[in-house]
Amino acid sequence: MSSAIKVFAPATVANVGPGFDILGLALEGIGDEIEMSLSDAGGIEIRMPGSNLPTDPKANVAGVAIQALLDELGSSQGIRMIIYKKVLPGSGLGSSASSAAGAVFAANELLNSPFSKQELVQFAMAGEAASSGKAHADNVAPSLLGGFTLVRSYEPLDVVNLSYPSDLTVVVVHPQIEVKTSDSKKILKKDISMETAIAQWGNVAGLISGLATSDYGLIGRSLQDVIVEPVRSMLIPGFDQLKQAAADKGALGCSISGSGPSVFALCNDPVSANKVGSIFRQIYQDLDIEHYVHVSKINEEGAKVLI
Ligand code: HSE
Repeated sequence: MSSAIKVFAPATVANVGPGFDILGLALEGIGDEIEMSLSDAGGIEIRMPGSNLPTDPKANVAGVAIQALLDELGSSQGIRMIIYKKVLPGSGLGSSASSAAGAVFAANELLNSPFSKQELVQFAMAGEAASSGKAHADNVAPSLLGGFTLVRSYEPLDVVNLSYPSDLTVVVVHPQIEVKTSDSKKILKKDISMETAIAQWGNVAGLISGLATSDYGLIGRSLQDVIVEPVRSMLIPGFDQLKQAAADKGALGCSISGSGPSVFALCNDPVSANKVGSIFRQIYQDLDIEHYVHVSKINEEGAKVLI
């Protein structure tokens, strides 16, 4: 059993258009890093240099997630960790998921891997519940497993890795304002009409089929969210402009990343993705809003050991 480890768990784009709470993908090059060691002192000790997030393990997503894992093992093993937050809270890029996924992945490695990555999803979900009030898996699943994931069912939990074209490239723009997932969940409608549901599940099925067959036209037609985006987009400055510009520059589609305020576009290659990234930058410069643009392929590996 090794006694210390450093891991990386990627940031993620959840919902991915029509797949509210069920679809997600992992990003390359951005994610939280966690150093962890086992301790004889008992309890969970958390440090987060440069972050204002709570370090009390009962109030920290990583602490809650690890406690869920230890409870399942019936273990009182002491854990110490330092979380280097690289994914900003309230960005819509799965900040809490990155910490929760990284923490359970690291703990599992240190404890000689009693669980598979698939099984770790349920523990990381406990962290999400502590953060947003809902144990959604659409960020923690891709952060742990990598790739493009579908939560086929929550009860029982059934997470599936989807096929997708290898050239698929993601552009994300994060306007530097904070939107809490818990707040942006509260504004959603509780009921939808049958007509709206039909439109949405047609798009979910079309998107998954398009991804599996590399049918970019079908992916583009299906990247539409008729339920959540119309409500949440009101919280995002310049959203309509970003969406129109993405279409003009050849993106397959564009929608809100997770609960926002980040916005993502999917492109069929890095060249068009960089054009979309440039126009996103231009739009927020013109609106005088600080922002950060990230262009990447989909991260195939998910959570991984660094050292
Ligand atoms: N599915 C979640 C939501 C993702 O949209 O509220 C949050 O990142």
